[in-house]
Amino acid sequence: MELGREADTVSLESKIGRCKLRISMIGCGYVGLVTGTCLAEAGHQVLCTDNDAERIAALKAGVVPIYEPHLDAMLAANCRSQNLSFTRNAAEAVRAADAIFICVGTPPLENGEADLSAIDNVARLVASEALTSKLVVEKSTVPAQTGQQLKRVLGLYRRHGAVQLRVASNPEFLREGTAVQDFLHPDRIVLGVEEEETEKQLREIYRPILERRFRCPVHLGACPPAKSPDLLITTMNSAELIKHASNSFLAMKISYANMIADLCEKVGADIKEVTRAMGLDPRIGPRFLDAGLGFGGFCLPKDIQAFIRLAERCGVDFTMLKEAERVNKRRVDLLLEKIRKALWVIKGKRVGILGLAFKANTDDIRFAPSLEVIRALLAEGAQVRAYDQEAMDKTSAIFPQIHYCRDPYEAAQDVDALLILTEWEEFRQLDWERISDLMLRPMIIDGRNLLDPAAMMERGFEYHCFGRPIENQTAPKAIIHAPEVFLAGAHVPSAPSTEIVT
Ligand code: UDX
Repeated sequence: MELGREADTVSLESKIGRCKLRISMIGCGYVGLVTGTCLAEAGHQVLCTDNDAERIAALKAGVVPIYEPHLDAMLAANCRSQNLSFTRNAAEAVRAADAIFICVGTPPLENGEADLSAIDNVARLVASEALTSKLVVEKSTVPAQTGQQLKRVLGLYRRHGAVQLRVASNPEFLREGTAVQDFLHPDRIVLGVEEEETEKQLREIYRPILERRFRCPVHLGACPPAKSPDLLITTMNSAELIKHASNSFLAMKISYANMIADLCEKVGADIKEVTRAMGLDPRIGPRFLDAGLGFGGFCLPKDIQAFIRLAERCGVDFTMLKEAERVNKRRVDLLLEKIRKALWVIKGKRVGILGLAFKANTDDIRFAPSLEVIRALLAEGAQVRAYDQEAMDKTSAIFPQIHYCRDPYEAAQDVDALLILTEWEEFRQLDWERISDLMLRPMIIDGRNLLDPAAMMERGFEYHCFGRPIENQTAPKAIIHAPEVFLAGAHVPSAPSTEIVT
């Protein structure tokens, strides 16, 4: 590990204030990389480690293994200024730090509980390697009371009696795709602490963020005026619960909007109008009311599960969360019903997919609804082609058999239906006339309510979405193009007996 000091870090230090803490990140996933890089940008000395040797080697070579806007440039700049470095040697990372942030994964176990084995491993590593007193900060998402267990394990495995190992909980609220912005401009910073010294140390770590003293790559230093983030000091149990409670509430809000969308379809109302009016009430707020294919990603689905299990262990039957989860699971079925209704027979049909990532601005496909849609379409004998600006590589590892396209237009080429599964902005700007000409039949099923129904139907598309009024489209006036060979040698079913214009 080479830790140097360059001129500008000194001036940065004087700009930031009193001290520059030595911080180690254990775990270089989304949370560890974004937190580590942003704290380095804020002027601290950050050393990151991960038990994935390839990942560390890539990071040392400046290769960021995740797609996250602004992260790679920031990481490179802080490696150059030697505020940020990577090591394969976890013991070194423990010894080199004043504060150790635990950012390892807590994936769901079979029963939905959070798998805390990685946290336990790190605790025993810290306890056995620490030669000086340390602050151990829980950054991973964990069920309440994990901090108490962590403290216990650190005490049990501590090798050097004089060493003090204090524990704190500091949940993160960053979203994939806007993680750097979310970290540097948080709505709130939550600290679960038990000692004054711990609170003081964490305040010092976050001082540059609280005082908005950092170079912001998102706004290029001209950050919009805003109040400083709220700093919430509470107990560890409450801090841990705040994370699960917040994510679960967001998930419930989305499922609530989706239930309303289903009702809108029945009564002929427009979910966009309904949620806009709801959101104008500051008690409700406009965000996280976008109806459609439901929530995916590595956080909401697993956090809602872990929260339900935690409640169960405590004798609380969290029925409303179970319902939110059930509603969410049904979104893909509802989309498939719309596809079946529109295509009648799926077998042998050609389906183009726009969007694979679980949401826009990320390459992450974990728990992405698109995967279930593809699985079901392939199972029913459809031929699938897909486009996503970032997530095709990861998807092709799961579905090598589908055709990945260089752009949305290739995904529309000679297909019977085009599905929008991720809310990428670029899909709003497409040349729809060109898309219509490329398709066998201009039919769009918009799983993210990204487009405007009236405008799409005006353009001659059959258009289906969630919870928005669409006029009767059973007798489309659209022109159907003669099919061409889709994939060399592929079986081409005969065209339906409607008017054919070659
Ligand atoms: C989430 C939380 O937002 C974040 O605070 C926490 O730290 C981690 O988990 P993330 O998983 O990145 O972040 O995604 P988010 O932006 O919350 O979206 C989650 C899913 O909900 C996506 O699939 C998105 O498409 C969907 N969603 C979001 C909706 O369906 N409707 C909405 O209105 C908002």
